[in-house]
Amino acid sequence: MQQPIGVFDSGYGGLTVLKEIVKKLPGYDYIYLGDNARAPYGTRSFETVYHYTLQCVEWFFEQGCPLVVLACNTASAKALRSIQQRDLERIAPGKRVLGVIRPTTEVIGNYTATNKVGILATKGTVNSQSYLIEINKFFPEVAVAQEACPMWVPLIENNEHNKAGADFFIKQNVQHLLEQLPGMDTILLACTHYPLIKDKIQQYTPEGTKIIVQGEIVAESLFDYLLRHPEIESNISRSGMKAFYTTDDADDFNEHASVFYGERVEAKHLEL
Ligand code: DGL
Repeated sequence: MQQPIGVFDSGYGGLTVLKEIVKKLPGYDYIYLGDNARAPYGTRSFETVYHYTLQCVEWFFEQGCPLVVLACNTASAKALRSIQQRDLERIAPGKRVLGVIRPTTEVIGNYTATNKVGILATKGTVNSQSYLIEINKFFPEVAVAQEACPMWVPLIENNEHNKAGADFFIKQNVQHLLEQLPGMDTILLACTHYPLIKDKIQQYTPEGTKIIVQGEIVAESLFDYLLRHPEIESNISRSGMKAFYTTDDADDFNEHASVFYGERVEAKHLEL
């Protein structure tokens, strides 16, 4: 039986990716789950992020999803490989889980003319070194600097990011990043929450700096993946349906989600 694609994030950030996926692949059905009750993931341990992510992935599989996209860099950095290598064969042979780091690192080197790239991400993603390792595989000539921004997700999740207080943290982290690698001309927003503060980040970078967001890159990569994997693609349902779930309060989710998704959503509460 055909079933929707699952799209997962610790909270709202994955909606910025889902929006682009739906734009690129509008015909398919989608289920989105935000684990808002346990967000943010970015400051949690490897074991905790793995455990939470696996639990959510198992829920998607119980709904029948043939494919789950972890639209969260922290979960992609800390849980994806273990799930793919340790759990998938046991819990859902024939199903797939994809992340956002690989598709991004495959193309990021194409954006830089100076071969100097900056990564802004959560502490978890930075400490995992995933971006350094993966970019080095695809673009060994590119130098990479990283900066963890532990205050940004809480500011965004609490809708405080447009207030004046947020600028202090945004400016501080962007400056730290720029200082590490003079000549950096490309900055990747390696957290799916950060597109919401793209303009503020741009404001603190030298003119001409490219700020790259992941949504379109991930959508493009999923499009290619489905072309190359008809055995997965043929199991995906197509009625244009979109369902939204949150592990926290649904009214609260609905109130905040439109800022990330671009339109109002009606989420249901999920007790895990
Ligand atoms: N949106 C997630 C990411 O892309 C992280 C948010 C969090 O810290 O929970 O890394």
